[in-house]
Amino acid sequence: MALALVERDPPESPETSDLAVELHKVSVRFTTERGTITALDGIDLTVPKGGFLTLLGPSGCGKSTLLRVVADIIQPSTGTARVLGGSASAARSRRDIGFVFQDAALLPWRTVLENVTLPLEVGGGAPLGKASDPHELIELVGLSGWEKAFPHELSGGMRQRVSIARALVSSPKLLFMDEPFGALDEITRDRLNEELLAVWERTHTTILFVTHSIYEAAFLGQEVLLLAARPGRVRERVPVNLPSPRRIAMRETPEFVALVSHLRRVLETC
Ligand SMILES: Nc1ncnc2c1ncn2[C@@H]1O[C@H](COP(=O)(O)OP(=O)(O)O)[C@@H](O)[C@H]1O
Ligand SMILES: [Mg+2]
Repeated sequence: MALALVERDPPESPETSDLAVELHKVSVRFTTERGTITALDGIDLTVPKGGFLTLLGPSGCGKSTLLRVVADIIQPSTGTARVLGGSASAARSRRDIGFVFQDAALLPWRTVLENVTLPLEVGGGAPLGKASDPHELIELVGLSGWEKAFPHELSGGMRQRVSIARALVSSPKLLFMDEPFGALDEITRDRLNEELLAVWERTHTTILFVTHSIYEAAFLGQEVLLLAARPGRVRERVPVNLPSPRRIAMRETPEFVALVSHLRRVLETC
């Protein structure tokens, strides 16, 4: 009897799950003065460890809400969200989740290096043994030599590079990015798209990336999740079969053009 107890594995322990994210029938409703809004309605979704999923859909279809559920910022009204085989809140307290938003939100009185190391100083109690070398991260995002610069000395693209390095400093297993390049000019966005893929290949981080650019969704993702609005729901999950490493010039290939026009056709019905 005792032996049987010893042999029994804990159910779905973090080590045994090969899924980074599992959503089961997740709905999120917000109660407002104008009534109840169903931001997400019965979402079923799995993302494998090491995957790169882009989320594409019209404004208000629940993309940010979905990321917030997985990041344990809001709770689903019904359904369950699991991260790395356990609860989203456990993943968050292990610092397994990094977040990058459209606005880099750097502290203006701190240098690049001091902004990158900020997460190591706040939120006490969490394990920091796995912290990445901030200098290596600054090099990884192409900002070597800028360690002592202040945010006001940086371009928008450089500020987003800092916020990516900051999100990676606790070596998160998951990186959630909510329209991180939406405010940048097209050339800078293209360059950061290529650089982000290089970071993903180096770090093996699972990435969920929200965008409303069809090109960006197709170029970055191993798969594109198309969401429809009112209520927010999954319309289609589209695999992207482009060779690796991806280069911006690939956007002119017939395969890429066909993928983009498929995504556009589906989006028109969302
Ligand atoms: N905190 C909130 N309170 C009330 N309504 C919200 C809140 N957050 C989001 N919503 C509503 O939920 C829907 C989905 O929002 P969101 O996830 O931000 O969409 P997206 O990121 O795809 O543009 C929208 O109708 C939005 O107005
Ligand atoms: Mg949003």
